[in-house]
Amino acid sequence: MPTTPARAFPEDFLWGTATAAYQVEGAAAEDGRGPSIWDTFSHTPGRVDHGDTGDVACDHYHRLEEDLGILARLGVGAYRFSISWPRVLPGGGDRLNRRGLDFYSRLVDGLLERGVAPVATLYHWDLPQELEDAGGWPHRDTALRFAEYAHRMGKALGDRVHTWITLNEPWCSAYLGYASGVHAPGRTDPAGALAAVHHLNLGHGLAVQALRATAAPPARVAVTLNLHHVRGVSERDAEAVRRVDALANRAFLGPMLDGAYPPDLIEATASVTDWSFVHDSDEATACQALDLLGVNYYSPVLVRARDGETADGPASPWIACGDVEFVRQPGPYTEMGWSIDETGLTELLLRLHGDHPSLPLMITENGAAFADVLDGDGRVRDERRVDYLRRHLTAVADAIDAGADVRGYFVWSLMDNFEWAHGYAKRFGIVYVDRETLDRTWKDSAHWYRDVVATGTVPDPS
Ligand code: FCB
Repeated sequence: MPTTPARAFPEDFLWGTATAAYQVEGAAAEDGRGPSIWDTFSHTPGRVDHGDTGDVACDHYHRLEEDLGILARLGVGAYRFSISWPRVLPGGGDRLNRRGLDFYSRLVDGLLERGVAPVATLYHWDLPQELEDAGGWPHRDTALRFAEYAHRMGKALGDRVHTWITLNEPWCSAYLGYASGVHAPGRTDPAGALAAVHHLNLGHGLAVQALRATAAPPARVAVTLNLHHVRGVSERDAEAVRRVDALANRAFLGPMLDGAYPPDLIEATASVTDWSFVHDSDEATACQALDLLGVNYYSPVLVRARDGETADGPASPWIACGDVEFVRQPGPYTEMGWSIDETGLTELLLRLHGDHPSLPLMITENGAAFADVLDGDGRVRDERRVDYLRRHLTAVADAIDAGADVRGYFVWSLMDNFEWAHGYAKRFGIVYVDRETLDRTWKDSAHWYRDVVATGTVPDPS
C-alpha cells in the first residue's frame, strides 16, 4: 500500500537547500581572496569551539562538481548560497578579483545547467576585515561599501541570478557581532550594535536599489531575517514580549517594510543611544519594495518580566532588556539546545501575512543539528531530523492553508558545515561530511527530502 500523502504543496512551490560561503567553501587564502572578520575571529584562540576555522570547511570551493551533482540528484528547484565579499572584492574596495568571481560564475552556470535556480545571498556575515578595521557595521561607510558590492555583483551575475537576498539575519550581525560578541568581530558595545542595526538596514535599502539597477529583470529581491516568534509566560508579560519583539523583529521590519523605526524601540534604548546616526532620508532608503521576505526559523522564544533586580550584563545581545527573563522552554531539544516547536512557525508566518498581506514569504532556512553517526553500513539514520523537517513542513502547510502566501522552503543545510562559534561539532546537514576525508554521505533525511521534492508532498510518518 502506498503511504497516504499527508500534505501536498502548491505546484510551483520552490524546494531548496541552503549554505553560506564561510561555512562550506574553505580555500580561505586562495585565488586572491582577502580575509574576512570570520577568518580573524576563528583564528583568535578561545573564540570558536575546539579552535575550528573555516580554512578548509567542506572544501566546497574545490569540490564544486561533486556538490552540484548532489543538488541535481536531490532534485531541488533552487540552491541558496552566499557570495564571499572578500573573495570577489578583497579588502572591500572596488578591485574585482576575477578568479574569485569565476568561482561563483561556475557555480551559477553549473546550477542552471542542472535546472537548479541560484538564490544568491550577498552578505552572510563575512565582512572584509579591512572594513571592520575602518569601523565595521557601526560605521556608516560600511553601508555605502555594501551598496557598491551589490552593484558589482548585480552587474556580474545578474544576467543569470534571478533571486537575490541582500542580508542574512542582520540580527546576528548586529547583536551577536557587536553586543554579545559571540560572533565576529566579537565586540561588546551595545551602542555600536544599534548603530550596526541601522547601517545594516541602510545597506540593505541601498543594495536593493543597486540590484534593481543592475540585475536583469525579472530579478526578485529579498532580505532574510531570523524573525523571533516571541511568547510570554502569562498575560502579565505582554510588555516583555513587546520589548523583545521591538529589538529582534521590528528593528528591521520597521525601517525595511514600513519606512520607520518603531517609537517604542527608540524609547526603550534611549539610555544606550540617541539614534543620531539615523539621517533624514535613511528610513525611506531602507524601505524599498521587496519581492519576497525570507524567513529563517528554528525555534520560538519564551519570555517573562523579571522579578526584582534587573540583570543587564554588558555582553547580552538583548540590549535594554535587563528586566526581561528568557525562559527555557519545554523539550524536546535539538543538539543546539533549541526547543523543537513547529507551532511557532505557523504563527509567525500568519502574523507576517497579516501585517504585510501582499508580501510573499519564503522559508530561507529551517533545520536541526543532531549528533549524527555514520554507521558501519554507510548509513546515517537521522530519524530525528526527518521528524523535525516533517513537523516544520507541515507547519508551513498549515500556514498556507490558513492563507499565508509562502512560496518556498530551503533546508538548512545541504551538508554538515562550520557552525560559527560551535565549529564543526554541530551537524545541520542532510548530507554527512566526514571531518577527516571530507567525503559526503547522504543521510536518511536527504533521501526523505528528495522524495518530498519529487512528489511535492510531505508523507504521513507511518
Ligand atoms: C542561522 C544562520 C546559518 C546557520 C543556522 C544554523 O542563524 O543563518 O548560517 O548557522 O543558523
